[in-house]
Amino acid sequence: MAEKLKMALVGCGAIAKFHLDGIKEHVPGIQVTATVDRDLERAQAFANEAGGVQAFGSLEEALEKGDFDAVDIMLPHDFHEEAAKACFDVGMHVMLEKPMAPTLEACDRILKAASETDLVFMVAENSQYWPEIVRAKEAIDEGLIGDLITARAAYVASFDPYWFQEGHDWRLNVKRTGGGVTVDGGAHWIRPLRIWFGEIEDVVGVLGYPLKQMEGESLMRSIVRFRSGKSAILDAMMIDTAFAPDDWWRITGSKGEITIGGGFEGGIKLFDREHPDGMPLMEPKGYAQSFGPEIADFASAVLDGTELQAGPEVAVGELRTAFAIYRSAEHGRWERVWD
Ligand SMILES: NC(=O)c1ccc[n+]([C@@H]2O[C@H](COP(=O)([O-])OP(=O)(O)OC[C@H]3O[C@@H](n4cnc5c(N)ncnc54)[C@H](O)[C@@H]3O)[C@@H](O)[C@H]2O)c1
Repeated sequence: MAEKLKMALVGCGAIAKFHLDGIKEHVPGIQVTATVDRDLERAQAFANEAGGVQAFGSLEEALEKGDFDAVDIMLPHDFHEEAAKACFDVGMHVMLEKPMAPTLEACDRILKAASETDLVFMVAENSQYWPEIVRAKEAIDEGLIGDLITARAAYVASFDPYWFQEGHDWRLNVKRTGGGVTVDGGAHWIRPLRIWFGEIEDVVGVLGYPLKQMEGESLMRSIVRFRSGKSAILDAMMIDTAFAPDDWWRITGSKGEITIGGGFEGGIKLFDREHPDGMPLMEPKGYAQSFGPEIADFASAVLDGTELQAGPEVAVGELRTAFAIYRSAEHGRWERVWD
């Protein structure tokens, strides 16, 4: 096995910078050797940032001429299937940004294509590695808040004008994304609930469309019920307004609560009888620090044959949860997530 895994970054948009920084800071096992973007200037600028590597204007050309054994696909959702399959076809290991695809049928096809190879396939759901989320799981397992009772997860984001820009406005189109805020950013709020509480059984929810430019829902309020019978509130909203500060997660147990706030900068606190004003459980690390460990997990699966922390089938759960909420909003009733 090669000492370093040569990798191409495919799609040099908003998330690519987080991936490149994560690789530079945390993943010595990966050498970025190529960048790909249909906007060649963007690919070139990113190639320079990655240390003067090769830049390509299409994945097809990169697969033909590039020098790499793995790809990190960070494209709009409607290109995920085509790109992942093209990479499997020529023997590339694939890390694919969430969601796997805009439909469950497309996910099945990608999973089938991956299963017919012995290549590593990972869906990059960074919340699996988000330091505060990981610390919360440890704190729960250590019994710091006693028995789990419930939680609230609130994805709250101000609308970003970047999303209007040509080349990045795909997010406003449901056919291209698979849905609105629940499918997109909401995924990062659903996975932590599954990590802490186990699998989701059913959901009930409502949707709203306050952000006129966005075809999919920009507001979602739901209750998720786990197989354990416990339940949590799951909210998501992207509105062009000024939001008051709020925790992104609040986990309630029989002995206290854990909160994760501070926005992208992070911060996790324990509240219990001894610490009624809250005690930090670690130095804030935040969202950006999730990408290094995420990509390191992929590198280690390829280079050392280790098992991924969460295989690609797990990532279907976020999509299934979102789609069950959509059905619930349509029919006005509880909807099961898995069948
Ligand atoms: N993990 C996270 O927190 C997180 C955050 C943001 C985005 N994402 C995911 O990352 C992916 C990309 O999102 P983004 O926000 O970076 O989007 P973006 O619009 O900022 O970037 C996408 C890039 O892909 C390029 N592109 C589009 N179609 C192409 C094609 N066919 N071939 C080559 N290049 C093409 C565009 O020119 C653009 O530079 C999505 O799956 C999204 O859900 C994840």
